[in-house]
Amino acid sequence: MSTFPKAVIFDLDGVITDTAEFHFLAWKQLGEELGIEVDRELNEQLKGVSRLQSLERIIAAAPEQRVLPTEELQRLAAKKNVHYTQLIQSVSPDDILPGIDTLIKELRIGGIKLAVGSASRNAQFVLERLELTGAFDYVVDAANIKYGKPDPETFIHAADYLNVPYEACIGIEDSAAGIEAIKRAGMFAVGIGSKESLRQADYLVPTTNYLDMITILAKFSQWNSEA
Ligand code: BG6
Ligand code: MG
Repeated sequence: MSTFPKAVIFDLDGVITDTAEFHFLAWKQLGEELGIEVDRELNEQLKGVSRLQSLERIIAAAPEQRVLPTEELQRLAAKKNVHYTQLIQSVSPDDILPGIDTLIKELRIGGIKLAVGSASRNAQFVLERLELTGAFDYVVDAANIKYGKPDPETFIHAADYLNVPYEACIGIEDSAAGIEAIKRAGMFAVGIGSKESLRQADYLVPTTNYLDMITILAKFSQWNSEA
């Protein structure tokens, strides 16, 4: 087994840029309209999860049981997306989270392939706003993924496209669903966040500031030699 990774698959929202906060704000406002409180704890369960599934989790958190027809669910999800797309109009290269630019550049110099594995149908737009479209060898199109995170399909699909064995891939995620997806794909999982939410991560840092290529490579190599 190689002790050197061949590809790194980045999540977008909450890893490359702080759009996770915009998703939260948009869900919170929709929740208020529905009389359901979307707090940070509930939000942890929405991270990485598709738009419709997130809405279903919010509805399930209502104090009383609610059953909404599919058309109503779709209308509400579309409404949240209108708000979210307004919020991301202002995204610029200044919004790339600390440490990400350097990490991307260093991995490139190291000859490691790079992909984005996002659940968001707005991923291409956000990457354009960040002026990062050319930085990746592949961007998973969420519209072509049948099973969202925590299913491993997003990561498997990226690795297959890049023609890299799964155990030679590193996934970077800020969501519990995403870390589970990486692990189910048989890859090395770097988590950004708290131990409480990202228990399954192989290597955890509190924020992107702490992402450092040399350390990540060393942790990967250690994981690989233990496997
Ligand atoms: C993920 C976010 O990246 O994309 C989730 O973490 C979001 O919060 C999901 O629900 C889907 O995004 P979108 O932009 O298609 O609604
Ligand atoms: Mg995320």
